[in-house]
Amino acid sequence: MGDFRVTGSAAVLAAMAALLSACGERAPETEAAGAGEGAVNGLMTPAAFSSIAGDEARAAALFTEISKVMLHPRCANCHPREGGPTQGDDMLPHNPPVVRGFGMGAAGMECSTCHGSVNVEFASMTGSIPGAEPWMLAPASMGWAGASAAELCAQIKDTELNGGRTLDDLVFHNSEDHLVNWAWHPGEGRSPAPGDQETFGALTAAWAEAGGHCPEG
Ligand code: HEC
Ligand code: HEC
Repeated sequence: MGDFRVTGSAAVLAAMAALLSACGERAPETEAAGAGEGAVNGLMTPAAFSSIAGDEARAAALFTEISKVMLHPRCANCHPREGGPTQGDDMLPHNPPVVRGFGMGAAGMECSTCHGSVNVEFASMTGSIPGAEPWMLAPASMGWAGASAAELCAQIKDTELNGGRTLDDLVFHNSEDHLVNWAWHPGEGRSPAPGDQETFGALTAAWAEAGGHCPEG
């Protein structure tokens, strides 16, 4: 997906709307968002913020909602600030212990030794080995587990830390990236992140459109 770039968050929303209307089973969520109603699986839709008048206050409130997903264990377990990955909802150190390496793990103990491109259920007990291609740890500069919403916001906007991404790139990543997508399809024995990727992407687009301001704190 390296070469594909969208030029604006409006383009992302238009593309999403086209995608959603082409996909009947998801249409009700779009209508709910458009009607300004509530939430999808515990995540508020952008419409819930449209009554906040000032761009700065609206962007800050939108980001606080976005942070509920990003700080959720399904994301944060792969985005530790130091050390290796963590696991489970209480974010304990990964068992067996694995080290960062270059994100792929140590030689002979690469993430791909155990993690494949899909989730694989355990044979003898409830649970699964999570999988998505290529399964790897986020770089330390993109580690945010335990951050506040304000810290997280400042960090992911910092192009020295975020892989040189613009706000539009962040919208695209949150809307389309497949490791992000895994957080809502985490496999047997794991709870998904709140909301769904469509709502998360739309919140990110609305935040960027309101100027990408950060909450205080
Ligand atoms: C020796 C096998 C093995 C290796 C190597 C390995 N993992 Fe895992 N990993 C597992 C198993 C098994 C689980 C599931 C544990 C459970 O749910 O009880 C797991 C779970 C995880 C989880 C937890 C997901 C969640 O939200 O609960 C993350 C994140 C993870 N691994 C990342 C990595 C990364 C990144 C690497 C490489 C640096 C890696 N793993 C290397 C076996 C491995
Ligand atoms: C399996 C591990 C894994 C999971 C799970 C994961 N990520 Fe990531 N994430 C990565 C890796 C690796 C990168 C670096 C890839 C790159 O720069 O292209 C990354 C980069 C990012 C970036 C780029 C900008 C930055 O500063 O971090 C964002 C945003 C992001 N992830 C969001 C999320 C969100 C939101 C979730 C959960 C919904 C999530 N990730 C789940 C591994 C993961």
